[in-house]
Amino acid sequence: MTPEEKVGQLHQVANPDPHRDAAALAAAEFGTCIVASGEHAGNVRDAGTQAAAVNALQRAAVETSRLGVPLLVARDVIHGHRTVFPIPLGQAAGFDAQIVRDCARVAAREATADGIRWTFAPMLDVAQDPRWGRVAESWGEDAWLASHLGSAAVAGFQDGGRLAGPEAMAACAKHYVGYGLAQGGRDYAEVDVGPVTLHNRHLRPFRAAVDAGVATVMSAFHTLDGTPMTAHVPLLRDHLRGELGFTGPVVSDWDAVGELRQHGLATGTRDAAALALRAGVDIDMVTGAYHEHLTGLVRSGTVPAALVDEAAYRVLLLKLRLGLFEDPYTDPGRAAAVHLTPDHRALARRAAAGAVVLLRNDGVLPLTEPRRLHVTGALATASAELLGTWTLDGRAEDVVTIADAFRERYAGAVVTVDDGRFPDESLVRAREADVVVACVGEHPVRSGEANSVTSLEPPPGQVEQLTALARVSRRLVVVVLTGRPLALERLADVGEALVLVFHPGVEGGHGVVDVLTGDVPPSGRLPASLPWTTGQVPLHHDQRPTGRPLDPDGTVGRYRDHRDTPQYPFGHGLGYSPVSYEGVLLSAAELGPGETVRASARVTNTGSRPVLETVQLYVRAHLAAISRPVGELVGVRRVPLAPGESAEVVFELDRRTLSYRDAAGRERCEAGPFTVRIAPHAGGGVTTRLRVTDEAPGPT
Ligand code: BGC
Repeated sequence: MTPEEKVGQLHQVANPDPHRDAAALAAAEFGTCIVASGEHAGNVRDAGTQAAAVNALQRAAVETSRLGVPLLVARDVIHGHRTVFPIPLGQAAGFDAQIVRDCARVAAREATADGIRWTFAPMLDVAQDPRWGRVAESWGEDAWLASHLGSAAVAGFQDGGRLAGPEAMAACAKHYVGYGLAQGGRDYAEVDVGPVTLHNRHLRPFRAAVDAGVATVMSAFHTLDGTPMTAHVPLLRDHLRGELGFTGPVVSDWDAVGELRQHGLATGTRDAAALALRAGVDIDMVTGAYHEHLTGLVRSGTVPAALVDEAAYRVLLLKLRLGLFEDPYTDPGRAAAVHLTPDHRALARRAAAGAVVLLRNDGVLPLTEPRRLHVTGALATASAELLGTWTLDGRAEDVVTIADAFRERYAGAVVTVDDGRFPDESLVRAREADVVVACVGEHPVRSGEANSVTSLEPPPGQVEQLTALARVSRRLVVVVLTGRPLALERLADVGEALVLVFHPGVEGGHGVVDVLTGDVPPSGRLPASLPWTTGQVPLHHDQRPTGRPLDPDGTVGRYRDHRDTPQYPFGHGLGYSPVSYEGVLLSAAELGPGETVRASARVTNTGSRPVLETVQLYVRAHLAAISRPVGELVGVRRVPLAPGESAEVVFELDRRTLSYRDAAGRERCEAGPFTVRIAPHAGGGVTTRLRVTDEAPGPT
């Protein structure tokens, strides 16, 4: 390959056109492209892609260029393609790796039918500040959950590693790394974090994704301790490539190479290109800095030719692994056969039901068929809004609204509907009904990229509207649909039940109604703590202890004006029957090197309705070289329990499960006492002590 042809593989353009860009295609000026609607495309729908259009591009690349290297076409396929699933935060509420994997598999099947073979997902940023709009795209606040679910998404997109199949797409672990710590929740803002927290919390999901075989990684926009991630040699070259052994291409975020100028590290795109390539960014997304300058930089000796060779090799190898050299084309008939099939819709319905979190229930749920039901609120009749952020290919007309799902389910009852635009009319209807379901919450433009908020309260006016409804309703169910964890203090006593649903996707209406009617037991759990009030954030379950722990029942707190705990803890979510926990029993009181201890608890459904209980395992190390969190999630089991049924839930613990990484980069698990807690959420459960020993106890 000529130097220009190699550099071409590292140049990613947006929305190329086979006619307009014919000369560039013939010259192999770019090797990959992104089909996107803008620089923060998450909330902007566009015309979409079609196999025929992608085939025309491929034909130009393959037939008119000297070497005929096919293109790799990318798009942000984040939580579904034509069949839109719950936003990642909603999928996370399922605590269910299998459903995450299945959703990613279907997204890949549908997107590849439109010629897309590379998605910029999953996002693996651990999001502990819900003011940040991109919390919607995350798996929530916990690093174990993000690792567990992020790896499942990778497996789904990449079809378990069978990348060459026509229905597999390359995944991209993003945004490497620490982006979730944007100061003040302001998108793109600087990040300051020490190595222990960076490694144990923020790098962990990336390590898991690399272990799961993720094909590509995206470097993030922000600066970390003053160095933009696009130019971060220690984290990109030394850690990602060196220690984690990642061999695939690293792509910059959108125009992030060019943004090195705004960060004040480069005066022009020439310097920016040199900095980014040296740091280990292989592909320049849309700046054009590599295209303009890399051959010159190599010629002048500023950048070693070997760096360009390695980067081009990585891109070509990925294209080879994807089977693009054998067949770069997509069967134009496939989309009609695979988009939005009944099977895909059924999966979306299950995923949506799994994303429903029952926060409070004073006995009104599950609903029994009413004589007269009133469904109200801005999201009662909403369609496109249920899709959430980053749904480039979802269509409003495909969405089942909550109102329609109720009409279908309660065909024999009177179902009245309004969208709450005229609250006085809603009040009249509410008074007439036996049950009122009010669907409020956030529009998707309030979450996603560049959409941060200073207040986690529901949007203006909604609490007043709900309070007025509560006064006149016999029974009121409040359903809050959102792209982020909200502070629901003012709804603590409003209505007889409070339900949280992260934007649930194309089958959102069915999913919500399935749970409210009890056709599906509620099983969603909070993937992030819900604070009482915005001023409490960041407030995540895995905090480190202070030197002056608070007495939970005491009268003194840290805040003079509020509590220290969240309104609802991480992992919380009710079923329609109570579940009791007994235990914890250990198979041995001590854990030596190379050993495994089984920890078990008995969980019993003490009510009269079936439940799907999400049993969580937390550990706490009481002695280590660093101060370790008050609770670390290390395992989850989802257990179906019929009324009265009880089950022994068993987890295995070994030193790996209990270990952490110290400031010098060593994996450690010191001898000492641990608390083992098996729990329905981060704020409760049953506990016991386990002692980790230096030596395995010998025969007595
Ligand atoms: C976002 C990325 C996204 C990229 C391409 C950027 O603005 O930060 O998450 O993959 O655009 O659309």
